[in-house]
Amino acid sequence: MVQHNGLRKMTLADTVAVHSIDKTVTIGPWSEKLYQDCIAVGYECWVVVANKNVVGFGIMSVGANEAHILNIGIIPQHQRKGHGQKMLQHLLTQAKTQGVEKVFLEVRPSNTPARELYKKFNFVEIGIRKDYYPPDENGVGREDGISLALSL
Ligand SMILES: CC(C)(COP(=O)(O)OP(=O)(O)OC[C@H]1O[C@@H](n2cnc3c(N)ncnc32)[C@H](O)[C@@H]1OP(=O)(O)O)[C@@H](O)C(=O)NCCC(=O)NCCS
Repeated sequence: MVQHNGLRKMTLADTVAVHSIDKTVTIGPWSEKLYQDCIAVGYECWVVVANKNVVGFGIMSVGANEAHILNIGIIPQHQRKGHGQKMLQHLLTQAKTQGVEKVFLEVRPSNTPARELYKKFNFVEIGIRKDYYPPDENGVGREDGISLALSL
């Protein structure tokens, strides 16, 4: 399969590994089926590969000159090695290639690593979505979402 600098398109076979990473790094991870659906509808679904293992992922929807970064995750042992930044840059390049003018995403106020990553790419805060993140089955994780945007 074609790789771009350690990144390649996510396949259905990758969704087990992606779901496993998501469970490790996220409060309220997506189901494996949701990743499969993202591939099926043609979203930009990419994985980070290191030593032939999937160590991260990124998902973005594109439409009407806008893109939404829906999820990015890097497995803890591979964080702070530049993979998140590489994935984000790749998604932005894909968006630009497809004529996107503005990219949006949501992030938890408590998520300092992700907020710093987006700050580094010059995303700006455009609003707060009240209770955007629902609590999980243990009642944990309810949080507002900070909406960020970047003009390409
Ligand atoms: C956010 C995340 C994807 C970053 O991935 P990563 O591979 O560790 O990030 P990188 O090594 O590419 O770092 C890029 C920049 O992000 C910021 N950053 C990353 N981790 C950070 C941390 N723990 N603390 C502060 N800033 C951090 C820094 O600005 C960093 O640049 P620098 O290395 O020049 O300081 C990763 O922490 C992750 O998977 N988190 C859990 C899932 C998640 O929160 N996803 C985002 C949902 S909106």
